[in-house]
Amino acid sequence: MNNQIKPVTYVISLLTLVFGMSVTSMVHADKGYVHFDNDGKLVRPVGYREWIYVGTPLTPNDMNNGKAAFPEFHNVYIDPVSWAHWKKTGEFRDGTLIVKELVSVGTKSSSSGKGYFMGDFLGLEAVVKDRKRFPASSQHWGFYRFTTDDHKTLLPTSRVMKEESCAACHKASAKQDMIFLQHYPVLQASKGLGEKGIGGK
Ligand code: HEC
Repeated sequence: MNNQIKPVTYVISLLTLVFGMSVTSMVHADKGYVHFDNDGKLVRPVGYREWIYVGTPLTPNDMNNGKAAFPEFHNVYIDPVSWAHWKKTGEFRDGTLIVKELVSVGTKSSSSGKGYFMGDFLGLEAVVKDRKRFPASSQHWGFYRFTTDDHKTLLPTSRVMKEESCAACHKASAKQDMIFLQHYPVLQASKGLGEKGIGGK
């Protein structure tokens, strides 16, 4: 009896193995934008200027008594796979990577008038959603900073920041799941709307 069952068991085991492997590689491919090194540091995302651009908040020094906490432009991008998920579900999926590129305020006038115009690239920060890696207390987000204090060099990797340095402020004021949705019209206009949310066809 046992001898008759065994081949079937082998086939099932083989199928489980093959299926299991393909699921693993799918999950891996799905997280293709997020890379951690062997020490668990996040490797600086690259190529993000070709991702989906969601907005540019700015809190300039001269509107904040000369000492804004973050006086630069913040160009914010979301990775394309998480953008597809956002359009479909209106949620930030596990594996979401959002980067914020810092750009100085450059000139304050142009032929169009007085204002704030972008100057130089100053740095890069990122948030990653990963349920296994980050605790519920930070709503499973990890916060990263790749900028040196003098804003002159970008670091190749970043350790996760302490929750009190970054996550606390996001938790207190961001509109959805620690992300400042209220400042990103592109994400608001596309939330759960699929292809209807992309600005027309
Ligand atoms: C004082 C509150 C505050 C602190 C502290 C703070 N942030 Fe933010 N963060 C914001 C606000 C407000 C926005 C959206 C508007 C903007 O960029 O100015 C934002 C946006 C972001 C974004 C774009 C995605 C999003 O959530 O909207 C990233 C990435 C980010 N912050 C990373 C960080 C990192 C890394 C730290 C810690 C080094 C940090 N933040 C600390 C208030 C804060």
